[in-house]
Amino acid sequence: MVQRTSGSGVEDLKSQLNIVDVIGRVVPLKRAGSNYKGVCPFHNEKTPSFVVSDQKQIYTCFGCGASGDVIGFTMKYYNLDFMEACEKLGRENGIEVNFAKSDNNKDKARLYEINREAARFFYKALTEKANPGYTYMKKRGMEDAILKKFGIGYADREWDSLYKHLKSKGYEDKDLIDLGLASRGKDGKIYDKFRHRVIFPIINTSGKVIGFGGRRIDDNDNPKYLNSPENAIFQKKNNLYALNTTKQEIGREGNAILVEGYMDVISLYQHGVKNVAASLGTALTENQARLLKRYTGNVILCYDADNAGINAALRGVDILVPQGLKVKVFHVTDGKDPDEYAKTHGKEGFMKLAKDASPAVQYKLDSAMKGLDVSKDDEKLEYIRKAADILRRLSPVEMDIYVRSLAENLKVSERAILAEIESESNKPPEPVRRQTDESTDLKLSPLEGNVISAILTNPDLTEQLFEDPGVMESPFAKKIENLFFELFGSKGEFDIGDLNDRLDPEESQALTRELNGIILAGKEEDILRESIDKWKLSNLRKREKDIVNKMDLADESDMGQEMLESLTRELMNIQKEIKKYGGKE
Ligand code: UTP
Ligand code: MN
Repeated sequence: MVQRTSGSGVEDLKSQLNIVDVIGRVVPLKRAGSNYKGVCPFHNEKTPSFVVSDQKQIYTCFGCGASGDVIGFTMKYYNLDFMEACEKLGRENGIEVNFAKSDNNKDKARLYEINREAARFFYKALTEKANPGYTYMKKRGMEDAILKKFGIGYADREWDSLYKHLKSKGYEDKDLIDLGLASRGKDGKIYDKFRHRVIFPIINTSGKVIGFGGRRIDDNDNPKYLNSPENAIFQKKNNLYALNTTKQEIGREGNAILVEGYMDVISLYQHGVKNVAASLGTALTENQARLLKRYTGNVILCYDADNAGINAALRGVDILVPQGLKVKVFHVTDGKDPDEYAKTHGKEGFMKLAKDASPAVQYKLDSAMKGLDVSKDDEKLEYIRKAADILRRLSPVEMDIYVRSLAENLKVSERAILAEIESESNKPPEPVRRQTDESTDLKLSPLEGNVISAILTNPDLTEQLFEDPGVMESPFAKKIENLFFELFGSKGEFDIGDLNDRLDPEESQALTRELNGIILAGKEEDILRESIDKWKLSNLRKREKDIVNKMDLADESDMGQEMLESLTRELMNIQKEIKKYGGKE
């Protein structure tokens, strides 16, 4: 399987090699002006028309048209693929070839595998024989089907049972420590990190186990929840708990209910509220907002009814709304959290509250009133100022609606409220919101977009891309191309989900945006072919121009007439090719 890579590894290798030395070892070269000349190894010829440029670090044969850089030469001469050529060049020239990207992906694949094995181990411990984890979850009313659905597990009381298990599978200490499954004690021994806890595996939307949350079972001083640390495969800010299981339901329902905790999610799910996810115990992030937006445009926040929950909801609104999500908020009215509420009031009760959730603006206005007695003039004024801050950032129509109702409720004129909104002098300026990042390096050319769409529709076409790997030119397209090669190599089949899993949320958002509007209409193979041809044509045009330039210079160079003749031949060949790809001469 061809594995290609690009970036610093390859550039590094090239920068440490001289093409004249490398080719000179297998093709006798003679200096000719600033270049070197020899008999072309790629076609039969008597007069040398094979030129190696020291300055440009490329070779060109004016007889057969072969040309390329040092890696291209090595591929062609020894019949190697790109990776093999790089390895050979590195080996023979004492250069360490560092293909950071593909190593990185191998590392990640191994880490995912270890987490999956750990999840399996924890799950067996909870399900196969009596254990405190199972007893605890039963006490909390969780059914077997739910434990299974969410892969809930148990980390036993031993100091090293998971560690021993994973070592028996051949995994390395370093990986287990990086993943936060184990840690090295002061005595130098390695211990399990999760002990005597109920385990909630955290699984991303592509089904990979990226981390764990572990709940304390006994009441003691240990932290109630212990979560995997951030590492190469786990970034809290990019993921939402349970979204892998609930994303379809979220799409179907047309909204996502966001809660604070693992238990809230699985308890609601058991009671039939399945369009839920949790934000992993931290404030919501922009990336999580974008992640949600892949599945729905509507979010209902249902955080705990305490102060922390209210503040988290207020901050959540400010994160979600700028991403274009419609947000509503409510808190449970009985019990501390959604889990407790669902247990006593069931799905019906919970959905009734959800139905009456406040639109984000109303929620913010209501919260601003907390602690103020608006029957007193000075406190009413304070409230109007706070409300003006909230309303100032709304669209005119929205603003109008809220100004009216506010004026009526507070018994003041609309004009007074509008004046307050307009008087920004005594207010700090509105923070500038960062819009969705449309940085240039996450752009695709129309041609690249077509190629990517075609391959996502039919992954078998990846093989055609192997043959013309230069089609992808922008850094973003190259990254996607590398992922295609990798996914195709490891799985054969893949889809946009697999791809998104390997991209940062910003990148997958950008990909969605860039592919938006590309319609293949079942013609992906033709479109890919056409795109590649178009690219070839534009390359030929570039070479044509290049040769014309060279011909201008040929007179002055010491290659004189002979050079001019071979350039002419080359030009004719290229123009023939151009015709073949549908271009005019
Ligand atoms: P809560 O303490 O509200 O959890 O923390 P909960 O869901 O009600 O838990 P139970 O019902 O007591 O089991 C909400 C979330 O905050 C994070 C976890 O993600 C938890 O689900 N958290 C909480 C931690 O990470 N560590 C902690 O010590 C506590
Ligand atoms: Mn709880």
